[in-house]
Amino acid sequence: MKALQCVELGMPDKLQVNEIPDPEVLPGHVLIDNKAASVNFPDVLMIQGLYQFQPELPFSPGGESAGIVSSLGEGVKNISVGDRVFAMTGLGAFAEKIVAPEHAVVKIPESMDFETAAALPMTYGTSLYALKQRAELKEGETLLVLGAAGGVGLATVELGKAMGAKVIAAASTQEKVDLCIQHGADEGFIYPTGKLDRDQQKELSSKIKELTGGMGANVVYDPVGDDYSEPCIRATAWDGRYLVIGFAAGEIPKIPINLALLKGMKIVGVFWGAWVGMFPEENKKNFQELFQLHSDGKINPEVSDSFSLDKGAQAIAHLKDRKAKGKVIIKI
Ligand SMILES: NC(=O)c1ccc[n+]([C@@H]2O[C@H](COP(=O)([O-])OP(=O)(O)OC[C@H]3O[C@@H](n4cnc5c(N)ncnc54)[C@H](OP(=O)(O)O)[C@@H]3O)[C@@H](O)[C@H]2O)c1
Repeated sequence: MKALQCVELGMPDKLQVNEIPDPEVLPGHVLIDNKAASVNFPDVLMIQGLYQFQPELPFSPGGESAGIVSSLGEGVKNISVGDRVFAMTGLGAFAEKIVAPEHAVVKIPESMDFETAAALPMTYGTSLYALKQRAELKEGETLLVLGAAGGVGLATVELGKAMGAKVIAAASTQEKVDLCIQHGADEGFIYPTGKLDRDQQKELSSKIKELTGGMGANVVYDPVGDDYSEPCIRATAWDGRYLVIGFAAGEIPKIPINLALLKGMKIVGVFWGAWVGMFPEENKKNFQELFQLHSDGKINPEVSDSFSLDKGAQAIAHLKDRKAKGKVIIKI
């Protein structure tokens, strides 16, 4: 089969498309003919050797894909040959075939196409868990989303609206802000790019306060980190929840902890992958909720760009270079 492979760590231009043997179907696993896979930020980090979990070289990147089950390992109970599924493997999805453990495979509704199914698990899974289980977002609350036109960002905009929040989208360009408004955000604004100086940080806090009638945001969803985090925490409402999602801007920020005291607010960690491992049944319920929201037309993953497997390296570069809006897909 054909697979995109990382044979040496580095930028996407180092990736190769190679012919490799088909994977072996292990007990408790299923073999899937991939139809689509989606790119996530961890793929960008993993090929550079910067991710928290590093596979041995060579490896195929790609954390999630959707396709048709073509073979079953011994002992598989709830999946059949011919099922349309998505799989969350963390690795190996940018290939024509993938072997996945049964617990990481979910049947998708007949009405859902493979690109949408590949775009859904990590971004919407993370964002629903963050808003529902971690922030306990309530109807009528104000939700600020940073990096709002990115993968997890745009999912959060849609889910926040579906949960009845007032959503404020923050992104780096007008085009990105406009996309968030199209996906349901009530308000949007552009923040500066690069390192933020003190004045720019103060302006960011002031803007959030202005858009929340001086109260601050009830919930902040932050996948960007770096200099953007502290000004957002300073513009959080009393009893607010600041969600630590990721650090796409580079640095892990250091936050003066007295801000949590002064605002009676919570800094809440979100590690969706670890939660899925510990509470798989709860996560399955979340997926069923996402399928229902999709069939009700309340969420609609935005696939801004799709690439062939041969151009998979360009797909990863697209995300790395901050060009992605919503999801980037590799069609297989
Ligand atoms: N905690 C969890 O369980 C979990 C799960 C999934 C993902 N994540 C994390 O969430 C973050 C976003 O993931 P994603 O897949 O949504 O990525 P993405 O689609 O690339 O979105 C990230 C957004 O961050 C913003 N950004 C700011 N500075 C950036 C920079 N220097 N380089 C690239 N983007 C920058 C960009 O928006 P603007 O251009 O508008 O600023 C971009 O749209 C990552 O850190 C990822 O590891 C965490």
